[in-house]
Amino acid sequence: MQTVTTLPELWANRKAFSGTVGLVPTMGFLHAGHLSLVRQAKAECDHVVVSIFVNPTQFGPSEDLDAYPRDLPHDLALLEEAGVDLVWTPTPEVMYPQGFQTWVEVEEVTRPLEGGMRPGHFRGVTTIVAKLFTGVQPDKAFFGQKDAQQVVVIKQMTRDLNFPIKIVVCPIRREPDGLAMSSRNTYLDPAQREAATVLSRSLIAARTAFESGERDADKLCAIVAEMITAEPLAELQYVSCAHPQTLTELETVDEDGALLSMAVYVGKTRLIDNFLLGGTE
Ligand code: PAF
Repeated sequence: MQTVTTLPELWANRKAFSGTVGLVPTMGFLHAGHLSLVRQAKAECDHVVVSIFVNPTQFGPSEDLDAYPRDLPHDLALLEEAGVDLVWTPTPEVMYPQGFQTWVEVEEVTRPLEGGMRPGHFRGVTTIVAKLFTGVQPDKAFFGQKDAQQVVVIKQMTRDLNFPIKIVVCPIRREPDGLAMSSRNTYLDPAQREAATVLSRSLIAARTAFESGERDADKLCAIVAEMITAEPLAELQYVSCAHPQTLTELETVDEDGALLSMAVYVGKTRLIDNFLLGGTE
């Protein structure tokens, strides 16, 4: 496994690959969720590149950029063991050279949900992902369904900018008690960690109602909201039942299905989770 930082090193290694290339973009502090993306990339591509970059422009002024967990030696050991070919660990100076002034901005699908709560977040995400795409030039790029809106936004950007890249979406990886895997879970103390299971429990309750025929979006959201509100350590920021592709809020779930998603504070830690209900994707 090669680890590179600069663009010339990246390009030289990329040029040496002969078959298909899969990219797994990450911000490091890898867990089993990231490793499942790597496994999928290895199953579908001849070469796998993982990028590790804690992207400052997708963090808001009040967010946890400095506190964001980092452990590069451990990440590299995991990636070596997973059989990754190339790891790209650019510095902020490589990604945002002095005088940087070019941004990639996706419009409608970035406005609701996370985009509404975290102004500027998706401008940072799409700009960095576009730069990772142009740097690595992968055939396929692998993202987790945990960041459901990010997946919709990146698919839109990929279509709009004609990137010749297939976006592969991998299922959410969960702890045995249902908590969606996230680097941010490490911030939770034991009581908060226990309380955080309410996210997946509330989604399961809403899905059970959906499977029993409930199609009223407000009622599905209310099931989630009531369970979160009943958990003293949790504070609901939003719950949404939206069209899975356009992300517009639904009144009734039809044959396209729905993205049922939420953001919840447990202590100071902001957690997100979602289920796709029905639909074909
Ligand atoms: O999902 C993430 O970890 C980040 O948003 C990404 C895609 C690596 C861009 O910084």
